[in-house]
Amino acid sequence: MKRAAGTTIYLWELAWILPSIALPVGMLVALVVTAFGAGVHVPSDAGRIDVRRVAETFPTQVLEIAPGQYEVRMKAQIWSFTPNEIRVARGSTIHFWATSPDVVHGLFIPRTNVNVMVLPGQIAHVQARFDTPGTYPIICHEYCGIAHHTMAGKVIVE
Ligand code: CUA
Repeated sequence: MKRAAGTTIYLWELAWILPSIALPVGMLVALVVTAFGAGVHVPSDAGRIDVRRVAETFPTQVLEIAPGQYEVRMKAQIWSFTPNEIRVARGSTIHFWATSPDVVHGLFIPRTNVNVMVLPGQIAHVQARFDTPGTYPIICHEYCGIAHHTMAGKVIVE
C-alpha cells in the first residue's frame, strides 16, 4: 500500500511537537517536586527583611559577641560592602549576617567557606574561622551592574 506524502510529513511534525510539549512539562514537574517536595530553598534562609527599610532595620556593625567570636552585620549594595574592612585576631570566628537593599550580590571570601548569594529581602548567614593571619578579600561574585568588579572589601586577621 502506498502512503500519501502528506502523512509522512505529519508524522515528522508530531515527532518534534510531542517532545517540545513533554520537555517543558517535565521541567515544570521537576521544579514543583524540588521546590515543595525536596525542600530546595534560597542559599541561606536566615530570615526575611523589608528591602525598602534596610537602612533602619538592619544597622551594620562589627561586634565582638564573645572572646574570639564576632558578629558582622553587613550590607551589600551597589557597589560596596558596609562594613568593608573587618579586623579580627587570629583564631576568630566571624558570623556574617548580610542583606542587600537593591539587587542580588555575592559574598565570597576565597580560602574560607564564605560563599553565599546576598538577595534583596533575604538575610544570608554564613560563618568562618580565621586561623591564618593575613588579608582576606571580600568579593562580590554575582554580577550586579556596571561597577560590579569594584565591589570588594577585606578581612584583616592579625
Ligand atoms: Cu555586587 Cu557584584
